[in-house]
Amino acid sequence: MKYLAVVVAALLFVAANPIKAAPACGTTPTQWTGYIYEISFEDAKLALRMSEANYDRNAKKLKISDVVAQESAQKTITLLDYSTGSSYTSIEGQCTKGNVTGDIPNFGVPAGSTSNPSGAEYLGSSLPNLGVLAYDYYGTNSVDGDYFATYTPIGDGSVCVPILRATLTASPLKEAVFKYTNITTTLPSDPFSMPPGC
Ligand SMILES: *[C@@H]1O[C@H](CO)[C@@H](O)[C@H](O)[C@H]1NC(C)=O
Ligand SMILES: *[C@@H]1O[C@H](CO)[C@@H](O)[C@H](O)[C@H]1NC(C)=O
Repeated sequence: MKYLAVVVAALLFVAANPIKAAPACGTTPTQWTGYIYEISFEDAKLALRMSEANYDRNAKKLKISDVVAQESAQKTITLLDYSTGSSYTSIEGQCTKGNVTGDIPNFGVPAGSTSNPSGAEYLGSSLPNLGVLAYDYYGTNSVDGDYFATYTPIGDGSVCVPILRATLTASPLKEAVFKYTNITTTLPSDPFSMPPGC
């Protein structure tokens, strides 16, 4: 009888505390603006950027405007218009027009990722009000090599906000860390204006 009580208590505990599976985090919201910090190493060059990003998946437009660019990075403003397949890249007021193909990136968890088996965690601290609830995913793909990606869920977590992404390929040696901050779902006015000189 005592044994049964322990089993019942254990089952009740499991039912009350389900191990939360990591959310899908397949996409970001359809519209957002925020900052992307990037530090990277590629072709034996270091680059550091802090950029403002404006994103609209329905309009199929993404604009990234560097606010800070150091090391080999040059201050760049890029408009990618997936609705027309055109890209506009302005460096120091000199514009280069090019093409973009495929779908606008959804900035979600890459297909084929594995979620951190320990589930939810708090970025920074798990003390009250000192951390951000986050889930980690990892994997390998042909674009990024090995990667970690960290997201915080909105609602049920089919839609999430990206927080961090780190990528690494050994050959050629290439690595990058991206941090996303201050993401909000309302765009500034005129979010996809033409970069200077375009
Ligand atoms: C972009 O595509 C157009 C039309 O297909 C082509 O004429 C042009 O050469 C391409 N530009 C670049 C930079 O690849
Ligand atoms: C980020 O958001 C906070 C809170 O709204 C604001 O005080 C801060 O200026 C923002 N930072 C940038 C770089 O916009």
